[in-house]
Amino acid sequence: MVASSSDVRHVLHASALDDTVWHTVLDAAVEYKTHDTRTDAAAGKTIGLLFFNPSLRTRTSMEVAAAHLGADSTTLTPGEGTWNLAWTDGAVMDGDAAEHVREAIGVLSRYHDALGVRVFASGTDYKADKRDDLIHRVADAATVPVINLESAWAHPCQAVSDASLLTERFDGDTAGRDVVLSWTYHPKALPMAVPNSTVKMAARCGMNVTVARPDSHALDDDVMDAAQSLADPHGAEVTATDDLDVAVEDADVVYAKSWGGPMVYEHPEREEEIRTQSRDWRITEERMDRTDDGAFLHCLPVRRNVVVDDAVMDGPHAAHLDQAGYRLHAQKALLDYVWSLD
Ligand code: CP
Repeated sequence: MVASSSDVRHVLHASALDDTVWHTVLDAAVEYKTHDTRTDAAAGKTIGLLFFNPSLRTRTSMEVAAAHLGADSTTLTPGEGTWNLAWTDGAVMDGDAAEHVREAIGVLSRYHDALGVRVFASGTDYKADKRDDLIHRVADAATVPVINLESAWAHPCQAVSDASLLTERFDGDTAGRDVVLSWTYHPKALPMAVPNSTVKMAARCGMNVTVARPDSHALDDDVMDAAQSLADPHGAEVTATDDLDVAVEDADVVYAKSWGGPMVYEHPEREEEIRTQSRDWRITEERMDRTDDGAFLHCLPVRRNVVVDDAVMDGPHAAHLDQAGYRLHAQKALLDYVWSLD
């Protein structure tokens, strides 16, 4: 029996989790972390993982999360040992792609009880990336739950995991804490999935979020507005500034991330020019010392002494390894949700 796509619990964006589910998942993640729980609750189930882009944490933590619940996983890297896939509707497939994503996902849905898919932004079509077209095409073709392992516009696994870490760090009392999401220099124009998800995640936790970035690298207005809507019930504020040194003053958390931003799509040369002139947007020990004993977070991978100094990575503010560790616990909680294991 193949379920219709509307019957299944996809996790394409964190907004797919209503407030009850959101809190259940966060609490479960903290529980999994606290007790390092292993169960056979998902024995006999399998998850298929497709990575169109590289990964260290997401791939490994999802495989281990499945194993800790008694499930099996298989991981595919399309084009490396599998067929190259076509994406577009009506594609005339006389090029490299031997198979269409509709068949690939339709077939894998018949083998697996859930799929996890990573497919990054095109970097060329802003509207399509903002609509998150590719991950939605996957979900449309699937008949089992699809977990977004980072798409063009969102990284819900990272968001749920970071919210779980912050919930534990602040003993469930995240509301009113001050978070700085800091743009940082990077030699490449990186996608916006993580900053988009982070600003909304922190706002949903009731934290005051300051997005510190050069004016050229402002996040999409709709993302900022959505974040403010999530902050409103908590009386929290989501703001932006181009002064990182002021932003970090007394902050509880500094979350560093690099992104190219909307300018990459329209004026890539100009974006690169501004970015390369912005090397001082780096998290230093001096900046962390201005915080209120703040935690340094980064989703990783991170470039030492480009994005953040060694003194921070190896110093007392560093929380990025625990942050990465939480991915395992949070994804066990997400598998509970998509497989209705509770
Ligand atoms: N943060 C994160 O998603 O890491 P990977 O790209 O290594 O999976």
